[in-house]
Amino acid sequence: MAMDTLPHAAGIIGAVVPRIDGPLKTTGTARYAVDHNFPGLAHAVAVQSTVGSGSIRTLDTAAAEKMPGVLLVLHHGNMKGAYRLFPHQDDATISEARPPFEDEKIYYWGQFVALVVAETLEQANAAASAVRVEYDVQTPDVRTDLSAGFTGTRQSSWKRGDPDQALTTAPVVVDETYSTPVETHNPMEMHGTVAVWEGDHLTLYESSQGVVNHRIVMAEVLGVPRENVRVISRFIGSGFGGKLFPWPQSTLAAVAARNLKRPVKLSVDRRMMFSNVGHRPHTQQRIRLGATPDGKLTAIRHDFFTETSMLDDFVEHCGEQTPFLYSCPNLEVTTGMVRRNVGAPAPMRGPGAVPGLFALESAMDELAIKLKMDPLELRLKNDAERDEGTNRPFSSRHLKECYLTGAEKIGWKQRTPEPGSMRRDGKYIGWGLAGASWAAARIPCTATVELCPNGRICVRCATQDIGTGTYTIFAQVMHAKTGVPLDRIDVFLGDTSLPDGPTSGGSMVTSAVLPAATSAANEAVTRLLNIATLTAGSPFAGAKADTLTVSHARIHAKDQPASSGIAFEEVIRMANLSDITAAGKTIPSWEDPKARDYSMHSFGAHFAEVEWEPEIARIRVSRIFSIFDCGRIINKGAGANQILGAAVMGVGMALFEDTVHDPRTGQPINGSFADYLVTTCADLPALDVTFLDYPDLLVNEYGARGIGEIGMAGVAPAITSAVYHATGIRVRDLPIRIEDLLQSKILEA
Ligand code: MOS
Repeated sequence: MAMDTLPHAAGIIGAVVPRIDGPLKTTGTARYAVDHNFPGLAHAVAVQSTVGSGSIRTLDTAAAEKMPGVLLVLHHGNMKGAYRLFPHQDDATISEARPPFEDEKIYYWGQFVALVVAETLEQANAAASAVRVEYDVQTPDVRTDLSAGFTGTRQSSWKRGDPDQALTTAPVVVDETYSTPVETHNPMEMHGTVAVWEGDHLTLYESSQGVVNHRIVMAEVLGVPRENVRVISRFIGSGFGGKLFPWPQSTLAAVAARNLKRPVKLSVDRRMMFSNVGHRPHTQQRIRLGATPDGKLTAIRHDFFTETSMLDDFVEHCGEQTPFLYSCPNLEVTTGMVRRNVGAPAPMRGPGAVPGLFALESAMDELAIKLKMDPLELRLKNDAERDEGTNRPFSSRHLKECYLTGAEKIGWKQRTPEPGSMRRDGKYIGWGLAGASWAAARIPCTATVELCPNGRICVRCATQDIGTGTYTIFAQVMHAKTGVPLDRIDVFLGDTSLPDGPTSGGSMVTSAVLPAATSAANEAVTRLLNIATLTAGSPFAGAKADTLTVSHARIHAKDQPASSGIAFEEVIRMANLSDITAAGKTIPSWEDPKARDYSMHSFGAHFAEVEWEPEIARIRVSRIFSIFDCGRIINKGAGANQILGAAVMGVGMALFEDTVHDPRTGQPINGSFADYLVTTCADLPALDVTFLDYPDLLVNEYGARGIGEIGMAGVAPAITSAVYHATGIRVRDLPIRIEDLLQSKILEA
């Protein structure tokens, strides 16, 4: 859409607005982390462990050090100046607590054991392959059965009523176990760092979802004051959660650069992405549901195992949505954390909710079948009007309408429940649905707005745009408040020298930045209007500021058209000001007396259709309708992109993604794009996104809630339920495999 066709002023909120940073990306002008080069830049390559458990017996760098161009080989024998972050520090999070090369121990295959730095990347690569390491090897534990060898204690949460008693007496019970595999984040841009020291000041060019957190962590890890560290991440080729918190490559680049007194660049390659920078961990979840014969839930038990690394306590909170999605008097969630020889897990799009809802929503489908009840009707019958987990009202919940809208779109009334009972064009078709939810909150943020004498507006905030459209959101607010066209609005993000902003995580950035941006813009306009009344020569000198306004980038009397006034920058020039700047701040929802007593969540539903061709055992996802209640959508273009992209990842979760660790070595054996399958365009069905667009005014003045992660929740169970409907096969262990479907009794075409 051309800029001049955009609706003016306030109408820009909620419109389809092309990303203002789009041209920078499509022309290759945008520079990502490792696109930065400096005079004297040295190149680093990490050496990875070839065993999954054990310790380094000998590490021989002699040959590597003699090779051309080699400047430094770092390893546990000579590593200095990398410290642990204080455990559970409340304002900072790191991915791996153990600093790289802290000792000779090996905890997972691919762990960095040495770093070679050379004049060129080729020299560093060559020398890295000449580092000789011998290990005392132990058999890595990468068992995929998470109950195997579990000796820990289970944590109970959300308990209400007496679920065990209720399950004993329930007339209808479902008791099944579901599992989800390790999924690897595969953002287009891989992790990478360029570290530049100037004296004792460090600048890190990173691909980070949270520059402010990254700065605090790296200051602690490197033992330098916070104010000496600057982290820059202006463009990010996405992260999906894998770039929320710093990884060892950042520490290594900084330490090497400090040793050499030269800038150092270190990239994580695609193969390393599968071992060194996080993944969604395995989950294994037993769901027990009790119900009355007419389909009212009487008990829910959600008992799950989640896998973590040997050293870091990461929990995939599979039970987070379970306490409030349905109304049910008796409920308990328990968690068992299981250690394996894998790298530290990390949040991945919709952590907890995505695997958790795969299990819960699959079990709901199975319950509907047992009850001989429509799965849609079962959802509607058990919909919660209040958050029964926290016993608080929802700020805004329209899940029922999501279901009813989706049912209308796919034509649910025509659905016949028997597996294999629906045909189209010679294929069997199956329909399935599932609900989705994700937490919302207003997290803290600060921002400044500067009205400039050249007629431009500058907005500054140390959050970052991970590809989701955050630059554009700021520009939309400025345009809405002033009418200054988007091409005269400069948004500066992704740099810790800017006012503190939130980590791009938890789908909470838009709801966090809106109040800060809005209040800064309002305050800047108030100051501008005051200056207009106080400045000699201004046509509004002596007027009352509250009779004036700004629109179409002009100051004018509220009761007169914009054309009667003057361009806003003229007043700034007349007053001889360098600019008019104001700061804005977002008060977090939990400190807001109006908001804190509410349960805030986004909701949604996916309706999936699959086609089944039994003769060739082919399953295709042919349609997905996604209906979402995420508050007011600020940018319908970027917002729809979020749900579409998440649905694509959901198709991958259902059909393809599975990081397989070799039981002998612990190596991710399909750690490449040749072997690790992700959804491609050829696998994709027609996707259809609908937003209900009800403003949630407890979250912010525009009513925008979280949107990024929720789109992935519910896709996989909608697909496996559709697969059951088409084939009669219930897949409880993702991904769906042809071997599973070959068991189908529905064979005749
Ligand atoms: Mo999200 S997994 O918090 O990037």
